[in-house]
Amino acid sequence: MKNFDVSKFENKAAAFEAFDDIRTSPEGAPTMGDVVAARFGRRDLVKGSLAVTAVTATFGAAALSAGRADAHAHGGMRYVFDEIQHGVDETHHVAPGYSADVLIRWGDPVEADAPAFDPQNQTAQAQSKQFGYNNDYIGYLPLPMGSETADHGLLCVNHEYTNEEVMFPGLGRQDNAEFAGMTQELVDIEMAAHGGSIIEIRKVDGKWEVVPGSRYARRITALATPMDITGPAAGLDRMKTSTDATGTRVIGTINNCAGGMTPWGTYLMAEENFHGYFWGELTEDHAEYRNYDRNGIPGGWYAWGRYHDRFDINKEPNEANRFGYIVEVDPLDPTSTPKKRTALGRFRHEGAESIVNGDGRVVVYTGDDNRFDYLYKFVTAGTFNPDDRAANMDLLDEGTLYVAKFHENGKVEWLPLVYGEGPLTEANGFTNQGDVVIESRIAADLLGATPMDRPEDVEPNPVTGKVYVMLTNNSRRTPEQVDAVNPRPESRFGHIVEISPPNGDHGSTMDDWEIVVLCGDPNVEDVGAMWNPATSDNGWFASPDNCAVDNQGRLWISTDQGSGWARSGTADGVWALETEGDLRGTGKMFFRVPIGAEMCGPKFTPDDTTLFVAVQHPATDGTRNYPGFERDSTFEDPATRWPDFQDGMPPRPSVVAITKDDGGPIGV
Ligand code: FEO
Ligand code: CA
Ligand code: CA
Ligand code: CA
Repeated sequence: MKNFDVSKFENKAAAFEAFDDIRTSPEGAPTMGDVVAARFGRRDLVKGSLAVTAVTATFGAAALSAGRADAHAHGGMRYVFDEIQHGVDETHHVAPGYSADVLIRWGDPVEADAPAFDPQNQTAQAQSKQFGYNNDYIGYLPLPMGSETADHGLLCVNHEYTNEEVMFPGLGRQDNAEFAGMTQELVDIEMAAHGGSIIEIRKVDGKWEVVPGSRYARRITALATPMDITGPAAGLDRMKTSTDATGTRVIGTINNCAGGMTPWGTYLMAEENFHGYFWGELTEDHAEYRNYDRNGIPGGWYAWGRYHDRFDINKEPNEANRFGYIVEVDPLDPTSTPKKRTALGRFRHEGAESIVNGDGRVVVYTGDDNRFDYLYKFVTAGTFNPDDRAANMDLLDEGTLYVAKFHENGKVEWLPLVYGEGPLTEANGFTNQGDVVIESRIAADLLGATPMDRPEDVEPNPVTGKVYVMLTNNSRRTPEQVDAVNPRPESRFGHIVEISPPNGDHGSTMDDWEIVVLCGDPNVEDVGAMWNPATSDNGWFASPDNCAVDNQGRLWISTDQGSGWARSGTADGVWALETEGDLRGTGKMFFRVPIGAEMCGPKFTPDDTTLFVAVQHPATDGTRNYPGFERDSTFEDPATRWPDFQDGMPPRPSVVAITKDDGGPIGV
């Protein structure tokens, strides 16, 4: 394999200059603002940062500074692994003393009768039985159900989206070519490569293996998996289509980004950038125009509307109302029908991590990953019954959806999205709770929720009783738009907010908040913020995306810089971040992905002896900016052939199992 010269990126100013209008994953697409700021905006950024200090000093920054002073005074560190280096090359890296083994790759068999992977002759039928593309969220359900088994369980894996240019021979990128090369078979392969996979895995002689022919094995796809629609939007006229007169049945799920596992062992798949899959155009007098416009529909990212009328809003104007939800799947029953739980709202759901509150109600935190969109939580009406799994199976159909309003005094208020309350009435276009959830964003706008810097994973921390919010970046926030909780203009590197419910009560409607870390390189004057005296510079990171919590309450953060790695000088990866004590807010780099990939899905086994991670879209993002490569990857000419490194074999998104060589818990 080729070896890229990492030292080419050591001059970060040069990397900044090199940044140009390059392709990223849709969610991280660079804006003109990014490009202008990267080339010309350094002085303005400094000015912006200074201007913000006065605002944040009221709360967030003051707390942050105090934490830094403590860390500086006390030194010491809790993490006990040797950090890896920032950098970019063709393969993955993990801290010394650990092994990172590929567990399953795009195209590997999931269902028992899956054919062998043949990337030159892929079919939708084969893909429907094989591991899908762009693995993202990873859930682990120990077997038997209810145990804490750490060497046998089910893995529930989302497949977020597809990259046709490295999946299919002879195509190249299609979005710039108006999908000229796309055929129905290729579209159907894409649809079959979306969704999720459920696999049974077992540790044999210290290494994880997929159990072949497992009775739990299942593919869920955008192409062919029927789903029920439940909750307040189910059955409304605006949920009905020409193929579903009931408004309660839909085929498939799309753009499943992060997710969650419920306390009763179901798998939540978050539908994130659902708007991108629809074609067509609604006129401004159409009843759904306001709704679709606020949600960015249609996005026109894929050619699906050419072959499937339901993705053309001119032909099926209600179909897009049936996407953008949290989907609940019972992984223990491969014949079960997944359910879209509309009570949790409709927007670009990043994830759905939950916690059982002290009173037994279940609280699900979920972010809307869009610039200036919101943070939500759903509190069930019923309570979790640990002794009766069946009694919990519809808990997510009834409860209250709240949206967050952050105050500058360090309080965060949770505002209920309830039909008939406040502005959520006929006067503003809502005739029932179904309308409120379908148009969650507009309801939240009316309530005065706080526009955030792209909320990604939101992780309750059972050790500390707190909640961590990954805010990945927001290139479009102007100096005039900064506030205490989003304190940086043109935030390219994001930050992490900690929410503290009073006495650990996640049902509270008034919590405390503070900023844990402003991300980015502290040695670059205009992005500064991550002050990390106890570790080397490799402890800083950019664009936090997904997150896991270990048994010590530390965060393990995976990053998605899009093409931004060409500015930061390092590929994405996993960083451990202290949440308490002297080193609160300091990080340490544990794992690094190959060039062009994004890091997703960190998930520990219950005893922390394995950390599963998902390497998403290797070889794609930002390769045009890599000195010596300087072009977009294609099937024939990818920037890396990770993980197989075989001629003719394209790069393959894969789940990696990380274990400590002595078999002990990770990071201890
Ligand atoms: Fe699919 Fe917001 O990351
Ligand atoms: Ca992501
Ligand atoms: Ca998570
Ligand atoms: Ca992201």
